[in-house]
Amino acid sequence: MTTSERKTTGEIGGRDHFTDFDLDSKEFSENFDEVVSAVHQGCPVARSEAQGGYWVVSGFDDVRAIGQDWQTWTNTNGYEPTRSGTDDARLYPLEIDPPYQTRWRAKLGEYFSPRAIRSNKDSIRRNVNELIDQFIEDGECDWVDAFAAHLPGRVFFSTMLGVPLDDLPYLQAAADQAVRGPVEDRMEGWNKVGAYLAGYLEQRAKEEPRGDFVDAVLEGVTTDDGEPAPFMHKVFVMVDMLAGGLATTTFLLSGIAHFLATHPEDARRLADDPGLRPGAVEEVIRVYASILSLGRTATKDTEIAGQPIRKGEMVMLSYAAAARDPRHFANPHEIDITRRIPTNIAFGYGPHRCIGSHLARLQALTAMEEMLRRLPDLSMAEGQEPVFSHSTVTRDMDTLPVRFTPGAKETS
Ligand code: HEM
Repeated sequence: MTTSERKTTGEIGGRDHFTDFDLDSKEFSENFDEVVSAVHQGCPVARSEAQGGYWVVSGFDDVRAIGQDWQTWTNTNGYEPTRSGTDDARLYPLEIDPPYQTRWRAKLGEYFSPRAIRSNKDSIRRNVNELIDQFIEDGECDWVDAFAAHLPGRVFFSTMLGVPLDDLPYLQAAADQAVRGPVEDRMEGWNKVGAYLAGYLEQRAKEEPRGDFVDAVLEGVTTDDGEPAPFMHKVFVMVDMLAGGLATTTFLLSGIAHFLATHPEDARRLADDPGLRPGAVEEVIRVYASILSLGRTATKDTEIAGQPIRKGEMVMLSYAAAARDPRHFANPHEIDITRRIPTNIAFGYGPHRCIGSHLARLQALTAMEEMLRRLPDLSMAEGQEPVFSHSTVTRDMDTLPVRFTPGAKETS
């Protein structure tokens, strides 16, 4: 936000975000609600000079329009300013445009449809309860460490990929480093994830097909030149699934617990009325939107809300801010379990809209159901608050100390 006519925010958390904006700054992550409100009010297209310079768009309508217009706003230059658009470690279908991107989405879509995902409900519930069993006798835990960080990986690796669970801690640590580690370490994280998944694909290609998602990736699609997708593109698809599905769902599951622990009246209503739960999950997804922002690059000189943008400049679409746009949501920072939202912008909009949304929703709903049943008096540990952080791309909760009446294990 360097243009001279812009107002200042005054200091929020020790930083003037209108003159010195940075998506990665702790002054932003520690004062998220306040900064988002200020941006909506005074600066819908923000400018940052961090990471070589980028724009940030926060309005619901602007984010939605850019998300749809892939001809003007390409994904091929990478999803954040530090990426170059070169071919050595990419995310597919995130960092490609239609029509190649459309062919991959069509190929993978059937494994992520609501019907396909519903078939995983029992497996998800079993995983939820196995995790709760590990701490229910203690009466307290750090929810992120004990639950939220584990469920998405267990579900994704056991139900979607069939990767050995023993490898999960390594993969999770490498994915964390890639997505939210220090900027200079992120490429190393991607390389580790890519090497592991390339090995897994090579091994699966030698085995009998199982008719699963991995076999569909191995079958592949044709490139825009009509050639079969090269092996490396298949690795990029696997890496994207992992990058897109772990930290995001961890934050959502942390958000569910934080909400229930701090809103006992809503928790009671949800316990009494299961019909309210899908709407409540949708609201938690909106308010605890885990994608802070993802990038597009202008393919020509253009403008957003009157702000000229030059060809080649990067624009970060802030889905988390758009999901709190006061022009679309009354009391945007509040979770209203009776609110009905036609479009959850937290999952994006247009051709790149989240392919894993139904999987994330089902994990959140199942976790909520089992928490209401087994941890009905969940609350924050005495005098404790969650610790939030974020990177350019994701919002994260590092710790969430909770307590509850101890209960009995249910699985052996
Ligand atoms: C709360 C959970 C989640 C949130 C908030 C979320 C959010 C998003 C958003 C905002 C996008 C749009 C990207 C863009 O516009 O550039 C996206 C794309 C994507 N998501 Fe998710 N996601 C979640 C869970 C998942 C899960 C569980 C998976 C997979 C298992 C997944 C895989 C992907 C992939 C592969 C893409 C790229 C799609 C494409 O480019 O065509 N996500 N997600």
